Amino acid sequence: MSERAHWGSRLGFILAAAGSAVGLGNVWKFPYITGANGGGLFVLIYLVCIAAVGIPILLAEVVLGKTTQQSPVPAFRDLSRPASPWMSFGWMGVAAAFILLSYYAVVAGWTMHYVVAAIRGTFAGMSNDDVAGYFGHVATDPAINLGWMLGFMVLTIGVVIGGVKGGIELASKILLPALGLILVALAIRAATVGDGFDRAIDFVFGFHGDQLHAGGVLEALGHSFFTLSIGMGAMVAYGSYLQRHDDVVLTGFIIGGLDTLIALLACLVLFPITFASGFDPAQGPGLVFQNMPIALMQLPGGTAWTTVFFVLLFFAALTSAISLLEVAASYFIDELRWSRPVAAIGCGIAITLLAVPSALSNGDAVGGLFNGGVASVTGANWFDTADWLVSNILLPVGGLGIAMFMGWRVTEQARYEGFAEGASLKNLYVGWLLLLRWIAPAAVVVVFLNALGLLDAILPESFLHGAPPADAEAAGTEG
Ligand code: TRP
Repeated sequence: MSERAHWGSRLGFILAAAGSAVGLGNVWKFPYITGANGGGLFVLIYLVCIAAVGIPILLAEVVLGKTTQQSPVPAFRDLSRPASPWMSFGWMGVAAAFILLSYYAVVAGWTMHYVVAAIRGTFAGMSNDDVAGYFGHVATDPAINLGWMLGFMVLTIGVVIGGVKGGIELASKILLPALGLILVALAIRAATVGDGFDRAIDFVFGFHGDQLHAGGVLEALGHSFFTLSIGMGAMVAYGSYLQRHDDVVLTGFIIGGLDTLIALLACLVLFPITFASGFDPAQGPGLVFQNMPIALMQLPGGTAWTTVFFVLLFFAALTSAISLLEVAASYFIDELRWSRPVAAIGCGIAITLLAVPSALSNGDAVGGLFNGGVASVTGANWFDTADWLVSNILLPVGGLGIAMFMGWRVTEQARYEGFAEGASLKNLYVGWLLLLRWIAPAAVVVVFLNALGLLDAILPESFLHGAPPADAEAAGTEG
């Protein structure tokens, strides 16, 4: 058997792991849930969740990978015993990677389509309503959805075939810095559109005595898992390509810090422009695909800004998708001894097939089978059902598994050595263990009960969601 592949440098690992973390979750989802939850207080609670739950679990994953030098399933086995039930968390992670990437690739495909549309000048001269309506067309057209999803999957597969150093690390080293530059350029541009910037700063960092309710707190916690790429072993896989003497503690903080910084910067791009154009920050998922092109097209050089903005989203999506495919492929490489190209292509094809129903979830293709048809059983179309399953069930349960495993099951020696070897911040060990053993599991259980709707049964509705605004129905502010 050949030597296990390793990252070329510590910076390479940081960029790859941060590239996994920084994704559509940061640039698309975080701003719109921040908008929907009223800003400042939500952001503060999100930061606490990242620090108290997210980063401890992120460190646990990286330590597990580094210590065992194995992908998630065998990693759980190595630190427990053969046929250990703990390995279920590894398998669940592989399954979660298949499902998550299958719908992530659809949204990623939209970002590619928007790049091309913007370059071609599709939005130039369109009325605001037409730009907004264009998203409806993109989301529902079967050919656009299938074609671009397929294109995106081919790119992702290509990078993963390239391997740890020559594919993932190289791509991340180019895409993540490029993403950072674009974001800073957009933020500088956004800072100078009217008084939008001041209002955005106040919205994101100021407290307005708004009613943030427990539902928003739980959303912040759930999002901290998604945005840090934890709960399915992606960070175990990436950690397994570290050398034993690499410092996981400092790098873990850097990764968490970069992810948070980029999420906040994304808000400082989206909100000034949103406010300056007179849009509502609480308008939901359309914030990125509808408001942004409308608002950016109004700037001088609008076509260029719009293009660059969707390139940013596309880069963010690609570095995250790579890590998802790597989780799936590394299982077949490590456990079944498949070659890397066979594993990457095999998993990639399976995921692409699984993505077809997601790609057809918004229109009436196949007689609306994956839209209304699925919804008549699950209450949501295929795409939203898959997202719900991953974000609210698989990732929290996976996070709980990893926290319990590293907190309670492994030996003190294995855990301490994995954490402290090569680490400059060794004395954080006791604090980390405390968060891992008690705080993280408790938090996950709460998210989980909420996802199952059990908190609704126990707590008063007004505590979880606040008193509904009088015009809630009319505004369609659900979700
Ligand atoms: N973190 C990515 C985002 O914010 C999504 C993602 C990539 C992910 N890999 C993951 C989420 C692994 C959970 C697990 O968009």
